[in-house]
Amino acid sequence: MKAGTKYIHAGAEPDPTTGAIMTPIYQTSTYVQEAPGKNKGFEYARSQNPTRFALEEALAVIENGKFGLAFSSGVAATDAVIKLLQPGDEVIAANDMYGGTYRLFTKIFEKFGIKFHYVNMQEAENIKGYINKNTKLIWTETPTNPLINIVDIAAVAAIAKANNVLLCVDNTFASPYLQNPLDLGADIVMHSATKYLGGHSDVIQGALVMNDQALRDQLYFIQKSCGAVPGPMDCFLVLRGIKTLHVRMQRHCENGEKVAHFLRNHPKVGHVYWCGFTDHPSYAIAKKQMRGFGGMISFTLKDDSMETATKLLSSTKVFSLAESLGGVESLINHPATMTHASIPREERIKNGLSDSLIRLSVGIEDAEDLIDDLNAAIG
Ligand SMILES: Cc1ncc(COP(=O)(O)O)c(C=O)c1O
Repeated sequence: MKAGTKYIHAGAEPDPTTGAIMTPIYQTSTYVQEAPGKNKGFEYARSQNPTRFALEEALAVIENGKFGLAFSSGVAATDAVIKLLQPGDEVIAANDMYGGTYRLFTKIFEKFGIKFHYVNMQEAENIKGYINKNTKLIWTETPTNPLINIVDIAAVAAIAKANNVLLCVDNTFASPYLQNPLDLGADIVMHSATKYLGGHSDVIQGALVMNDQALRDQLYFIQKSCGAVPGPMDCFLVLRGIKTLHVRMQRHCENGEKVAHFLRNHPKVGHVYWCGFTDHPSYAIAKKQMRGFGGMISFTLKDDSMETATKLLSSTKVFSLAESLGGVESLINHPATMTHASIPREERIKNGLSDSLIRLSVGIEDAEDLIDDLNAAIG
């Protein structure tokens, strides 16, 4: 089945009671039981909710996996994966990734005795030097937030398998429409469903998809024991978002390409970070593992001062200055003070994230309006 048909029908069975074509929002905390232990498979909504189950089925289908689990946010999904580990275990994580993931690892999990190594994964080989008997997980993100670096998922998966280490890939930036990490050998795919899956900037949610039953059972146990489950209304919204993922992503890619080329040709723009440029250092890998290059772009100005960047960030009219990404509307963001402020400045600079870097989430408006807006703001 092709992507569009899959996205529209994933997890969608007519409601058994009424035949409603849209999955109902089962807004209930509990279920009436006939006798102790005699029930319809639903006991308490932290453990079971039909709207969430429909979404989890859809998540599995769209990521070519067997099992999906939904969480109350992207970081809650990440949190669940790290809770698979024990004190003394080690994680090899990408050195360029969402600031909130870095904060969760360093500020929450390090104190429970889990050790994280931050490694430049653009060369998969770099990982090998950090593997030892305590290594249990490799955590990566591709394309990375915000520098749009690319990690070769198949190459990292081969290293993970050879060393009996789990690989989890944060697939938020690509979305399942552009990339399916499980097909490339990853064990777990993670999403901030807040972004492209929801697609309309109206919900916070996270997702995990995997193939292994035992891994699913452990993660389900963590989901119900720790309780970071999404509410049924939020599950409904993400289910609805998934139905148009393919149409939105096509337009995000088209607009992304136009905006990236406009920026690159602008005399006042410095470096443009977009993985669809044929001279992007990892273009060949992006082309191999992705079906398009998406709408996430970062750039600097030739006048690399904070003052000029701030002026630009405050003067766009169609691009709204806001955190987040992946919605239908275009957003402009300043990673150093917004999405990546939780990473110490010296770490950011070491990894190439300058104070004046600007990140765009190119939406699905008319590309001409987006370009006019940026042109006027750059001045
Ligand atoms: C790549 C990436 N991963 C994870 C997250 C965290 O997701 P959430 O904000 O839904 O908790 C984000 C949020 O911006 C992100 O950009």
